[in-house]
Amino acid sequence: MSALVFDKVRVSFGHGARKFTAVHDVSLRVPAGRSVGLVGESGSGKSTLARAAVGLCEPRSGSIALDGTELVNARGRALALRRRVQMVFQDPSSCLDPRMSVGASLVEAIRAAERRDRRPGTVAGRSAQITGLLESVQLPSAKAAEYPGALSGGQRQRVALARALAAEPAFILADEITSALDVSVQGSVMNLLKDLQAERGFGLLFISHNLAAVHYLCDDVAVLRNGRLVEAGATADVLHTPKEDYTRELLAAVPRIGEPLFA
Ligand SMILES: Nc1ncnc2c1ncn2[C@@H]1O[C@H](COP(=O)(O)OP(=O)(O)OP(=O)(O)O)[C@@H](O)[C@H]1O
Ligand SMILES: [Mg+2]
Repeated sequence: MSALVFDKVRVSFGHGARKFTAVHDVSLRVPAGRSVGLVGESGSGKSTLARAAVGLCEPRSGSIALDGTELVNARGRALALRRRVQMVFQDPSSCLDPRMSVGASLVEAIRAAERRDRRPGTVAGRSAQITGLLESVQLPSAKAAEYPGALSGGQRQRVALARALAAEPAFILADEITSALDVSVQGSVMNLLKDLQAERGFGLLFISHNLAAVHYLCDDVAVLRNGRLVEAGATADVLHTPKEDYTRELLAAVPRIGEPLFA
């Protein structure tokens, strides 16, 4: 896999006088194995751009391609390829069925990957995969028997990550995955994501309001404002010497106890 490429992507909602364009011709490249931070104030279009990549909303124009294969309106082989792009959401409850045990939820994701790759699985093989996936997200295998309601927010987010990993993703789009968590577990989920990326080599689009987290995790940063890309570049350049006033304002808005924000 070489890159997930957004090219002049435009996403609008509604029609006629009620038409609202949430993403305006945004071009962005997430190279394989790299992490790109996507920042911008609330409503700037970050989630919409990511959702378009996994087919949760449809661009009016532009292209989203994985290794040159168009993912918009994907069918057949392109749809199978699109499943290599996995999105993880702020609220893990949104992707975990409360009536399904953690193990059943992971089996569902494992079976989806088997169908995609047209390979038959076995009960024993899936069971071993569940243990492996839980281990990857640092959860004991006994959690397979539990239901989401019995897990902490951090544990639920780890299960959501394990579900994404079951798809053997080439790219993970992480949308505010630590924002709903207690501050005390935010760091451990971020470290986990960093370790998983180093180990598995997926490309990462990391959407966050937490600029310190973006600084810690991301090689590059893209800044969105009102659906438009206003600045992009290496993290150190964009966050230490921003070119745009808007980026400076975002940085200035970060509450901090003492200086500096970044080490
Ligand atoms: N399904 C929808 N129908 C209509 N408008 C939508 C829809 N989804 C998003 N929008 C609008 O598109 C704009 C961008 O929303 P989006 O969720 O992408 O922002 P965001 O940058 O992710 O914000 P936040 O940081 O709060 O998550 C917002 O004005 C939002 O109200
Ligand atoms: Mg969002």
